[in-house]
Amino acid sequence: MLKYSSNEVLLIIDFGSQVTQLIARRLRELNVYCEIHPYQKVTDKFLSNLLPKAIILSGGPASVLDKEFPMPPKSIFEMGVPLLGICYGQQLMVKLLGGKVESGRGTSEFGRAFLKNSNELKGVKFLKGWFKNGEENVWMSHGDHVSLLPKNFRVYASSSNAPFAIIGDEKRKFYGVQFHPEVSHTLNGKILIKNFIGLSGFSQNWNMSSYKENKIQNIKKIVGDSKVICALSGGVDSSVAAVLIHEAIGKNLTCIFVDHGLMRQNESKQIIKMFKNHYNIPLIHADEKELFLNKLKGIKDPETKRKIIGKLFVKVFSQYSKKIGDIKFLAQGTLYPDVIESVSFSGGPSATIKSHHNVGGLPKKMDLKLVEPLRELFKDEVRQLGLELNIPLHFINRHPFPGPGLAIRCPGEITEKKLKILRKADEIFINEIISHGLYDEIWQAFVVLLPVRTVGVMGDARTYDFVCSLRAVTSVDGMTADYYPFSHDFLKEVSTKIINAVKGINRVTYDITSKPPGTIEWA
Ligand code: XMP
Repeated sequence: MLKYSSNEVLLIIDFGSQVTQLIARRLRELNVYCEIHPYQKVTDKFLSNLLPKAIILSGGPASVLDKEFPMPPKSIFEMGVPLLGICYGQQLMVKLLGGKVESGRGTSEFGRAFLKNSNELKGVKFLKGWFKNGEENVWMSHGDHVSLLPKNFRVYASSSNAPFAIIGDEKRKFYGVQFHPEVSHTLNGKILIKNFIGLSGFSQNWNMSSYKENKIQNIKKIVGDSKVICALSGGVDSSVAAVLIHEAIGKNLTCIFVDHGLMRQNESKQIIKMFKNHYNIPLIHADEKELFLNKLKGIKDPETKRKIIGKLFVKVFSQYSKKIGDIKFLAQGTLYPDVIESVSFSGGPSATIKSHHNVGGLPKKMDLKLVEPLRELFKDEVRQLGLELNIPLHFINRHPFPGPGLAIRCPGEITEKKLKILRKADEIFINEIISHGLYDEIWQAFVVLLPVRTVGVMGDARTYDFVCSLRAVTSVDGMTADYYPFSHDFLKEVSTKIINAVKGINRVTYDITSKPPGTIEWA
């Protein structure tokens, strides 16, 4: 994995908190390069390779009072680098440095809490800008709590149930907080993280322009004169990856766009136009509609559909790579949220909600080596990188589109007829969103064609047609989402337009489920 620069890395050791990724996001917003690694992976050797400038210990569901509990190597305390322990991370720090943690029976705090500072704040850089109005509003989520501080630690703030809510050893620059500064519910949490960055001495110059230059050099170094093949889906991620690699190795890159017949209206044409005309990047248009649609005939189960599509992708892909010949590398637009290894305390794999073919579908043993230049980035950062690469704005800001395409927006059996109906309705919905100036406010919008028919009346005639559901959500990274609050007038307009223009649909509904408990796609 590429390091931004040897001593400008902040290491986040992950103990399984649901919000560890948010720590990384806050740091990136402050122009600091960071990496999240599960605690099992962080060994002395790992640390001496990475040489982090500071370390954050994340929260997590475990308890240091258990017989066995997840731990970092003790050497983190001897590296001379600043440390911040959050929640479980704070308790770990206290326990491993000789303090005491007690079970929270009766004193657990979940949710909002108010902190008051102690009288010892003078000169504490970590708390600069805090307690201006006497109190701070924070988000707690803990069962256990610190009850005795390790040597040289002082208490800086407490809440009614957490007497050691913020603690620190100023000399060693070790800090512990019992709440989560990374979540937006801790109103001034970002200030604390900024202070920690400041006192750790980061130059805060990690930005997309330097990332781009660094990456281009890195790709050149890894790939050399070899040939690379890149699978394009038409989405932002693979497009940005392709353009970046093209900047690095030029004509040695060939892109393949596998058209599975499950794209939206006119989408294939747009993709080909951008790559061939705008960038002059060699592009193979693999028209495999028949192959995919034939194999999907009669299949209703969503996971089976995903698996069939995933397998076919790999098959088509390797056929074309062989045809080109002499390919050594496969490029993919894999993002950071796809690769963060989640910590599993049970030792088993975490639950598979859906098989994302572009991550899990690759064969275990492959002849091609992988190039994944976006592995360190979140979606919005990929968009910034796209801007650096002069990719047209309308392309960068496109809503995400899943690899299996309309197959997962057409629950039940997929037929050409249904796909045609779905494409038309989807086009009307998206055009309405664009013409009302709402496209950029929405993370993702689409139509789902339900395998249900209902009775309606048009003119004087009875109809018996399909129902469709509109889906539009807001989200930061697709991990959680909420439905978009369209006005009733807007929904009425879209519904009328779809029913008037799309033969085959006589009823329109709007999906108001958030994620969780729903997912963004229906299948
Ligand atoms: P869900 O439905 O899991 O989707 O809430 C979260 C985000 O992931 C997209 N998605 C996929 N993207 N291959 C992809 O490239 C897939 O198999 C896939 N399934 C879901 C979805 O559109 C949303 O943006």
